[in-house]
Amino acid sequence: MSNRIHTLGGYIHEYQKSVLEPENFWSRVADSFYWRKRWDKVVDWNFDEPKVQWFVNAKLNITENILDRHLFTMGDKPAIIWEPNEPDEPNRILTYKELHREVCKFSNVLKKNGIEKGDRVIIYMPMVPEAAVAMLACARVGAIHSVVFAGFSAQSLADRINDCQAKMVLTSDGNFRGKKSIPVKAVVDEALAQTDTIQNVICFKRTGTDVTMESGRDLWWHEEMQGISEENKAEEMDSEDMLFILYTSGSTGKPKGVVHTCGGYMVYTQYTFNNVFQYSSDDVYWCTADVGWITGHSYIVYGPLLAGATTIMFEGVPTYPNPGRFWAIVDKYKVNQFYTAPTAIRALEAFGTEPIEPYKLDSLKVLGTVGEPINEEAWHWYHDHIGKGKCPIVDTWWQTETGGILISPIPGVTPTKPAYATLPLPGIQPIIVDSEGNELKGNSVQGNLCIKFPWPSMLRTTYGDHERCKNTYFSNYKGLYFTGDGVKRDEDGYYRILGRVDDVINVSGHRMGTAEVENAINEHPKVIESAVVGYPHDIKGQGIYAYVICDLANRSEDNLKNEIKETVSKIIGPIAKPEKIQIVPGLPKTRSGKIMRRILRKVAEGDTSSLGDTSTLLNPEVVDEIIKGAQ
Ligand code: WT7
Repeated sequence: MSNRIHTLGGYIHEYQKSVLEPENFWSRVADSFYWRKRWDKVVDWNFDEPKVQWFVNAKLNITENILDRHLFTMGDKPAIIWEPNEPDEPNRILTYKELHREVCKFSNVLKKNGIEKGDRVIIYMPMVPEAAVAMLACARVGAIHSVVFAGFSAQSLADRINDCQAKMVLTSDGNFRGKKSIPVKAVVDEALAQTDTIQNVICFKRTGTDVTMESGRDLWWHEEMQGISEENKAEEMDSEDMLFILYTSGSTGKPKGVVHTCGGYMVYTQYTFNNVFQYSSDDVYWCTADVGWITGHSYIVYGPLLAGATTIMFEGVPTYPNPGRFWAIVDKYKVNQFYTAPTAIRALEAFGTEPIEPYKLDSLKVLGTVGEPINEEAWHWYHDHIGKGKCPIVDTWWQTETGGILISPIPGVTPTKPAYATLPLPGIQPIIVDSEGNELKGNSVQGNLCIKFPWPSMLRTTYGDHERCKNTYFSNYKGLYFTGDGVKRDEDGYYRILGRVDDVINVSGHRMGTAEVENAINEHPKVIESAVVGYPHDIKGQGIYAYVICDLANRSEDNLKNEIKETVSKIIGPIAKPEKIQIVPGLPKTRSGKIMRRILRKVAEGDTSSLGDTSTLLNPEVVDEIIKGAQ
């Protein structure tokens, strides 16, 4: 039973039911899963502590719902289709039976190497099926995985290992991305020099590049898998046991470990996958995200596999060997649902329609976007040239913290509207508030987006620091979960996400905290102070603009700027490199010493007409200098 909604009337009915009788609604959805023990209560919650529990006291293992449950009904159906970076390298297809076998074997490898229920395991791997096997094997033995995007630096990796006190790292020798081959194991080695909790590293051989293996610590994936038993009984987990930690950036300090738990995450990701993509049993579904982000967790691995879908994992990049690669893959596998990011759409749009021409794209039924607001132009391009005007676009709004999609059209069921995420899914109760926290009722209103009732896959805490979870999400507006996004509800009641209202920048759909980037810039010995803001970027959505005060002695400005970029790349990773750096004599500050980012944002946007009153600043003269030096 898929709990799929088929009609607009069905949506309205389900939505109303989910608000009026949430326990009945979710208990019916959850009934379609395999639980070792049923729950005593559907939901128990308060947003003050906050404390949220779903399917209280139920027992399960999510991998039994992904693998064991599907063995007899669809054992020979492809679960994962892997498309390699090079178009002429053989692909790999793992059926549900084969995936089950691999996961059982690797679960035994984890156990053999001392991994027990509750241990934290870091996964720092490229887009290969083994990354999914690694996640599922952790889930099967009850270990808590934390996938770290393989583009992050050694420093970022070490910070995450230390934060969650991980016991093991699963990685690969290297990573193929377009023309590049990236060392991965070497980054792990560098990170491990700054950590002391890791007992073993298991390394999957992908590129064949030379690596150093530390004896007693480092093991080869293929050697460990040799001769290991294929029998593995899944660990029994409580519904509220942690399933995984995923680090994400916020407006202050270091990234925080968002915690998701087993039962609610399972129910919500499958439910939303089925509805938002309207997956039917013979469809081929493809999400182009990386497993290092929440999209990869919920809508490449968990959601689709729970639903018994065929999910594609693509190792490469959209422009290699040419900008027609996505469309070649769509035709090759007759992809029915295609899910990508606005930044990818805009990047491909920049090549014109010629790269699309050789392809039919006639298998496509649903197109999805996620990660940042999609502008109307990109929406139409996607709709007309990729969907040929016949595929509904699901603009899915959600967050690492929400675990699954909260606001989105249901294709063929509810209407779409360019640049709008449109309507909340059943179970989701959005509310718009002004800066004082007053609810803005009715239509044609704009404010901050909050959610007033829990949903099964919401975050439970931030790892090791519950206070931070409370302060970040539950303290701005009493009794509400605050998303950090601005939103408009139009005259028809449709939601349009306007972007972050906090100090978070969204670069190509990746979240970056301004404070985090500033801290990295300030590591450069010549930097005295810096301030980072986002500015509109044609392809990336937002770019990073850094204002830096520094000591220019013995350095040319250009050299220094390059060094600063390298510093950021080294400390966080290449994705956080500022696009633009302006060396400034000072930063505009209030009399209490607070940086006036509003002014810096305006200058970065190239709009200096409405800076407002700057005379009350501590140093008004600096504003003119900044405008003069702006790029
Ligand atoms: C932030 C969350 C959700 C997976 C990928 C990003 C922005 C996300 C949309 C959308 C407008 C969107 C929001 C949100 N965002 N989807 N459809 N329209 N904005 O996850 O890294 O946790 O970032 O991405 O600003 O708060 P994330």
